Amino acid sequence: MNAANKISVAVAGLGFGAEFVPIYLDHPGVASVTICDLNPERLQAVGDRFGISRRVAKVEDLIAAEGIDAVHLITGIPDHAEQAVALLESGKHCACTVPMATSVDDLRAIVAAQRASGRNYMMMETAVYTRQFLYAKELRDRGAFGRIQLLRGAHYQDMEQWPPYWDGLPPMWYATHAVAPLLAIAETRAVEVHCYGSGWMRPELQQQYGNPFPMETAIFRLEAGGLLEEGVAAEVTRSLYYGARGYMESFTVYGENACYEMQMENEAPVLFTASPTVVGERRQESLSRPDPPDRADLLPAEIAKYTQRFVYNNEESHLSFEQGGGHHGSHPHLVHEFVSSIVEGRPPAIDAVTAANWTAAGICAHESALKGSCAVAVPSFD
Ligand SMILES: NC(=O)c1ccc[n+]([C@@H]2O[C@H](COP(=O)([O-])OP(=O)(O)OC[C@H]3O[C@@H](n4cnc5c(N)ncnc54)[C@H](O)[C@@H]3O)[C@@H](O)[C@H]2O)c1
Repeated sequence: MNAANKISVAVAGLGFGAEFVPIYLDHPGVASVTICDLNPERLQAVGDRFGISRRVAKVEDLIAAEGIDAVHLITGIPDHAEQAVALLESGKHCACTVPMATSVDDLRAIVAAQRASGRNYMMMETAVYTRQFLYAKELRDRGAFGRIQLLRGAHYQDMEQWPPYWDGLPPMWYATHAVAPLLAIAETRAVEVHCYGSGWMRPELQQQYGNPFPMETAIFRLEAGGLLEEGVAAEVTRSLYYGARGYMESFTVYGENACYEMQMENEAPVLFTASPTVVGERRQESLSRPDPPDRADLLPAEIAKYTQRFVYNNEESHLSFEQGGGHHGSHPHLVHEFVSSIVEGRPPAIDAVTAANWTAAGICAHESALKGSCAVAVPSFD
C-alpha cells in the first residue's frame, strides 16, 4: 500500500474479468491497475481499450511480482484454488470469482492460507450485491419478514459451448449464485444436505468430472441461531445442460409476515405480505411489485455509474453479464468492498470462512447426489 493509502491491483483473466477493469481504474482507493491474461489478444484489447501499460501474461508471474498489493482472479474454475493459495502465500490480498474451489480440501487450504498470511481473501459473489438482494436485506433489517420459515434458490443456465472446463461440470459445484443469497439473508450456514441428480446428459459430457447429472436439486438443513430458529430448511436447484429454461438466478425468502420472490431475471420481484397471525382469525394479504432501488448511493462517486449496464463496451460485454441482466449492479459493490476492506485493514464481507461455507454447501450436495441422495454433513470452516 502506498503513502496515500491506495493499493495496487491486478486483474487476472480478461473474459468476464474485463468488466471489472474500468471499475478498479476509477476506484479512489486504487493507485494502479495491472492486467493479466495468457491470451495475448485479450490482453492487448483490454490494455488498449483502457490505456493500461502494465500487462502480464501469467498469474504465476503476478505471484512473484513486487509492487502489487492485491489480485482479483477471474480465471477458469479449475485454477482458482491453487492460484488463490499461491497469491496469499506470496503476501498478496486475493479476490476470486466464484466458485472458491471444487473440493472441501481445497476450501480448507484457502482458509488456512488466508489465516497464515493475514491477507484478505474475498469471494466475489455477484448474487449478494444485486439490487434485488440489497433490497431483501433492507426488508430483513426492517423486520418485515418476521420469522424466516423457508428459503429457496435456483440458477438455470445452459453451458453448451462455453470454455472446455465447463463441459459436464457438476451443477452443484457452481451453486453459489443460488445458495449465497439464502445463507446471507439468514446469516447462517448449511449443516446437512440431501441432493438428487436429475435428467439425461450425453455421455461425453459425463467424462471430465465423472458427473452424470445435467441438473441437481437439494434440500439443506440450516444452522439455527441468530436470525433463524431451529428447524429451517433451504431448497436449491441448479441446471447446467439440456434445459430449455433461459438464464435465471432466483431466490425466495418465505417469512412469517412477508414473502419476497425474485423469480424472473428482468422483472420486478414480488412481495407478499400478511397481517400478523392471530389464532382463530383469517389474515389480510397483499401483493406488490417493488422496484428495488439502485444502490449507487453506497458507492464512491467515481464508480457509482458502474451499477448500470455495459461497463466494458457494447460489442464485447461478457455473455453471463448480458444474460444475467448485468448482474443487477453488483460489480462496483464487490470492487468497493474488496478495496476498502484492504485499505481499512478489516476482513471483507465475504471472507474466506464465509466463502468456504457457501461453496461447501454445493460441493457436499453433489457428493450426496453421487451417493444416492443420502445425508451428507456440510463441514464448518470457523
Ligand atoms: N456472476 C459471476 O460471478 C460470474 C459470471 C461469469 C463468470 N464467472 C467466473 O469467472 C471465471 C472466468 O469466466 P470466463 O467466462 O471469463 O472464462 P474464460 O475461460 O473465457 O476466461 C478466463 C481467462 O483467464 C485466462 N487465464 C487462465 N489461466 C491463466 C493464467 N494462469 N494466467 C493468466 N491468465 C489466465 C484465460 O486466458 C482466459 O482469458 C470463471 O471462473 C467463472 O466461474 C463468474
